[in-house]
Amino acid sequence: MKRIVVLISGSGTNMQAIVDACAAKRIDGEVVAVISNKAEVGGLSKAQKAGIATAVLSHKDFDTREAYDAELQKLVDSFTPDVVVLAGFMRILTADFTAHYHGRMLNIHPSLLPKYRGVNTHQRALDNGDKEHGVSVHFVTEELDGGPVILQAVVPVFEEDTAADLQQRVHAQEHRIYPLVVQWLCTGRLQLTDKGAELDGALLGPQGYAVD
Ligand code: GAR
Repeated sequence: MKRIVVLISGSGTNMQAIVDACAAKRIDGEVVAVISNKAEVGGLSKAQKAGIATAVLSHKDFDTREAYDAELQKLVDSFTPDVVVLAGFMRILTADFTAHYHGRMLNIHPSLLPKYRGVNTHQRALDNGDKEHGVSVHFVTEELDGGPVILQAVVPVFEEDTAADLQQRVHAQEHRIYPLVVQWLCTGRLQLTDKGAELDGALLGPQGYAVD
């Protein structure tokens, strides 16, 4: 059983999907802690309801990004994780922090990377008149939203869509693909090598694992 620590900043629906998948034995792991940089977010109460240890480490209590990340690393490591999952953790991470968890930290980003790194991805897809939008799960490296993509899910964009509509459609896909990728990492099928993300020893393409 792999030990999973989840970092959140908000509602924690992806964290819940991973907790549910562990309970259903679709993931050979256990979420041992949920850590948030914001107090009183929905994800913390969801974790507490599930009987999972929670902690809050506010970035507002630190003068520099380096100081915050160093303390966060100590906190995360106190739970001795095998896998660290960023699930709506809205922080830019230092190179030291990402290097420390190299190959064992995942992120989910609401766009078809490499499109729309950063924030407001749904609105940006609408503004550009995209016909398709989606979500990517990737390994975390020091480049913001730039690590090797593992799996993407595509959703259609309809003419009358608002950013909220798109967000909801993307969220539904997030909850399907994130637990799957966490399981791949927990079972050792997925690895980050010098070449990129590899699944069962095969190098994944720029858009991750793809089936037609
Ligand atoms: C998700 O849509 C996730 O893709 C996004 O935050 C949301 C968290 O929702 N992450 C990012 O934007 C990271 N750059 P949740 O708290 O309900 O899981």
